Amino acid sequence: MNDFVYRNGVLFCEDLRVSDIASKVGTPFYLYSKNTFTSHFHAVDQAFGELQHLVCYSLKANSNVAIVKLMANEGAGADVVSGGELFRALKGGVDPQKIVFAGLGKTAEEIEYGLNEGILMFNVESSQELMLINEVAQKLGKQAPIALRVNPDIDVRTHPYIATGLKKSKFGIPLKEAMAEYEVAQKLPGLNPIGVHQHIGSQIMESSPFESSLRKVGNLAKSLKVLGMDIRYINIGGGFGIQYTDEEASQPDQFAAALVPLLRESGCTIIMEVGRMIAGNAGILVTRVLFNKKNEEKKFVVVDAAMNDLLRPSLYQAEHHIGPVVYKDGTPEEKVDVVGPICESGDFLAQDRALPEVQSGDLLAVFTAGAYGFSMASNYNSRKRVPEILVSGKKAYVIRRRETYEDLVRGEAIPQDL
Ligand code: LLP
Repeated sequence: MNDFVYRNGVLFCEDLRVSDIASKVGTPFYLYSKNTFTSHFHAVDQAFGELQHLVCYSLKANSNVAIVKLMANEGAGADVVSGGELFRALKGGVDPQKIVFAGLGKTAEEIEYGLNEGILMFNVESSQELMLINEVAQKLGKQAPIALRVNPDIDVRTHPYIATGLKKSKFGIPLKEAMAEYEVAQKLPGLNPIGVHQHIGSQIMESSPFESSLRKVGNLAKSLKVLGMDIRYINIGGGFGIQYTDEEASQPDQFAAALVPLLRESGCTIIMEVGRMIAGNAGILVTRVLFNKKNEEKKFVVVDAAMNDLLRPSLYQAEHHIGPVVYKDGTPEEKVDVVGPICESGDFLAQDRALPEVQSGDLLAVFTAGAYGFSMASNYNSRKRVPEILVSGKKAYVIRRRETYEDLVRGEAIPQDL
C-alpha cells in the first residue's frame, strides 16, 4: 500500500508528477507521501485494536519534525533514543506520556531531560544504567518509570547489523538475569518498574521470532506480577519487515493475528515501536543521471545522489528498487551499477541492476527510502544534505530545505592565530 504509482509510465506521488516536483526543487531530494504515512500508521494501530495499546513511532526511521507532527496528530507516541530525538518528539507535539526512551548509552543529562519532561518510561539496558537513572531521579526528587529491555536470545533471520536479540548482542539484559535486576530496581527509591521491553531486530519478515520471544517475555511479566510488581506494559519493540524488492513481508494484520492471542491474557497495555513499517514505503529518493560510463567489466550510471544521502546499499548491501521517473517507450534494459559521485568504491545505490537505458538528465526514483534514508544521511565529501518534500494530494511542502555551502561550515571556527 503506497501512493507512489505510475500512470501511463509517469511516476506520481499522490496527485503530483514527481518530475514536476524535481523541476521546482532540483535534485536529489527525498519525497514523502502524507497519505502513505498515515495509512501505514492506522494499519498497524487498527491491527492491534483489540488490545489496549500504544503505537510509538520510532523516530530513528525518519525524524523530520513535520513527520513527527503528522504522526502525533494521528495519535502516535514516540520511541526515542537520544536527547536529540526527545527534543524532536516534543517539538512535533508528541504527548510526553506517550514517549518511551530507549538506547543503551543514556547520559545523566539525557535522563534528566526525560524526567523533567515527564515521559512515559525509560527502557533500561544495563544494571549500571539502572543505578544512574535512580541517582538522577532522586536528585530531582522524582521516581523514574522504567522497563528493562530483556534480551530473549532469539535468532532472527535479518542482516547481522540489525539483529539485536542474540546472546552476543550488545543490547538488553539477558533474560535469566532480568528477574534479579527487577528485584534490585524495585528496591531503589528513584525507580518504578512498570513494564517489560524487548526489541529483537529490524526488517523481520514473519511473526515466528516475535512469537518465540514474546512467550519468554510474557512469562517474565507474569512472574514479576506474582512478586508484587506493578507491571502494566509489555513493549514488543519494532522490527516489522517490509517489501523492498520482491521479498514477501507479513502485513500488520498477519503479525497481529499471530501476536494478539499471546498478548491478550497479559492484561498489559502493549507498546509497539514501529519505524520502517510506517515510513519505509512512504518515501523515495529522486536523483538525476549525470553520466553513463563503462569499463571492460561494467557499465555505470553516475547519479547526483550518493551514499551520504542513502547509506543502506553501502552499509547493508540493501537492495532498493530503482526505476525511471518517466518511462520511455521501447527503451531496452541493460545491467548497470548505479553509483554516486563520492570517492569511495562502496558508494553505490545498486549493483548489477537491470535498468532501462538512461541518458544524462533523466530522473531515477530509488524506492522504499522513507525509513533510514535521510535520517542516516551525512555531509561526507562536504555534500549538502538534500531537501525533504512532503506531498498531500495536489500540494507539496518543503519540510527541510536543501543545505547551502554556508550550512556546511556553520558551527566551525578558525582560531584567531591561524
Ligand atoms: N525499537 C528499538 C529499540 C530499535 O532499536 C529500533 C530500530 C526500532 C524500535 C525500530 O525498528 P523498525 O520498526 O524500524 O524495524 N538502519 C537500519 C535499521 C536499524 C534499526 C535500529 N533499531 C536499516 O536501515 O535497515
